[in-house]
Amino acid sequence: MSKDDTKSSGRRSDRWFVPDDLRSMGHRSRMLQMGYDEADFLGKPIIGIINTWSDTNPCHGHFKDRVEDVKRGILQAGGFPVELPGLSLSESQLKPTSMLYRNMLAMETEEMLRAHPIDGTVLMGGCDKSTPGLVLGAVSAGYPMIFMPAGPMLRGNYRGEALGSGSDSWKYWDERRAGTIGESEWKEVEQGIARSFGHCMTFGTASTMTAIAEALGLTLPGASSIPAADTNHNRMATQTGRRAVEMVLEGLTPDKILTRPAVDNAVIVAMATGCSTNAVVHLLAMARRAGIDLTLDDLDAASRTTPVLANIRPSGKKYLMEDFYFAGGLRALMAQLSDRLNLDAITVSGLPLGETLKGAEIYNADVIRPLDNPIYHEGSLAVLRGNLAPDGCVIKPSACESRFLNHEGPALVFDSYPEMKAAVDDDDLDVTADHILILRNAGPQGGPGMPEWGMLPIPRKLLRQGVRDMLRISDSRMSGTSYGACILHVAPESHIGGPLALVKTGDIVRVDVPNRRIDMLVDDAELEARRAAWVAPKPHYERGYGWMFVNHVTQADKGCDFDFLETRFGAPVAEPDI
Ligand code: FES
Ligand code: MG
Repeated sequence: MSKDDTKSSGRRSDRWFVPDDLRSMGHRSRMLQMGYDEADFLGKPIIGIINTWSDTNPCHGHFKDRVEDVKRGILQAGGFPVELPGLSLSESQLKPTSMLYRNMLAMETEEMLRAHPIDGTVLMGGCDKSTPGLVLGAVSAGYPMIFMPAGPMLRGNYRGEALGSGSDSWKYWDERRAGTIGESEWKEVEQGIARSFGHCMTFGTASTMTAIAEALGLTLPGASSIPAADTNHNRMATQTGRRAVEMVLEGLTPDKILTRPAVDNAVIVAMATGCSTNAVVHLLAMARRAGIDLTLDDLDAASRTTPVLANIRPSGKKYLMEDFYFAGGLRALMAQLSDRLNLDAITVSGLPLGETLKGAEIYNADVIRPLDNPIYHEGSLAVLRGNLAPDGCVIKPSACESRFLNHEGPALVFDSYPEMKAAVDDDDLDVTADHILILRNAGPQGGPGMPEWGMLPIPRKLLRQGVRDMLRISDSRMSGTSYGACILHVAPESHIGGPLALVKTGDIVRVDVPNRRIDMLVDDAELEARRAAWVAPKPHYERGYGWMFVNHVTQADKGCDFDFLETRFGAPVAEPDI
């Protein structure tokens, strides 16, 4: 019966299994080798599940089980699930930084979807870079796709206080360095800060990116807020599987979902949640993959008019993602912003966004603030430009002491992370609270991979004086759970000769956030002389993936995608015709 053309469904997987030829016989016989019957897969929508589980990724620790829920949904809806392992980007374990591998996951996702007999896909991700990595690849592949967010872990606990991942590590580490807590207290923090599987439960990069995926219309409504350990998460997984099959039958491809109005919705939602600065890089990359020319200026403009409504750490003071879920979750937050969102944008549910928000309510108005009582009226993010960052850099004004929003001070420059690390613990370091710490050679090529070094540690000497914030500038990123007066993503980066390479210790640097400026007060002739004397550092790699990365990664203001993966690089990759 496999040779019967009436088995043709018109879907791409037919090309593998339907023809009466030698090659298709091979494909079919090898499915039978796995114990499947033709009735299991022939003529069915075949759904590839990209599962980013691994033994090193605690944020996806439940994916080994959760994939069974997804498969059940696919089978219920008449599809056939095919699980494919995807690169598991564990934010907490990968060196030098998971960001080095976001584009590798994107390439793997795109290529594995294209190479296999797959009609549609469920993407399982959530830990920081896995969300954009999966989405970037699946957008380029172009088959119907739905994202299943990992869900946040349960809130942490330290002596009855809720601990937030990332944020409270930094906080208590500063206390330990200041000598206000000792080793046993520190151990208790270590044991209490990550209590269950799931991604970080602050509104760091993971929560921001899964919220962005939902706002883009790529998840089932409400999916991104469900804690990983809540059985509502299992049910969401099954529903996601069912929906993937329906999307194939409806031909609901990502180009119909990832449109400019959807991207604009995601930008507003990112700002209203307090926005991890990492989201900037990923949003730019995802939009550009979809052929949408999102710029840093668009993000700055949205930030100026969007209030921060999610009172979740690190932008908020008290709450975590579990509280956000109980308060109504992302649907409730988006419902508050209905007037500013493009409600006609189509989502994976097949419904326009506006329909999916119907009935959403806030159950705790301190956690999800109404528009007339935001935690900040504006200021998730500001984009600065000047002679230190001609192509832009970002700061999160809502997360820093306000005196730094307009600040002038002498630079204290470090050329590498080890140099900076040694200096900040030197009790004789010549530094005051007004100094501006600068770390360079930490960008996309310089890091390499633009590591999360941007929240430079406060020098120990100043910590002991009670200083807890300082102005810091780098071409690196910072964790979405970080905070403080950190200016990040300076473009172009110093490693390729951006002007950050020219600043010297003692130069006066002026930062003016209201006017969006960042300048070193050094005259042009002197800068020219320094430029003439500048020697480019040696590239980090001479072979392998790292070589490809540093030769093709775009700068932070373009999203750090590989130039050859961007839509505008060349013609789309053709479907295999063999
Ligand atoms: Fe995975 Fe934070 S370490 S989301
Ligand atoms: Mg992070």
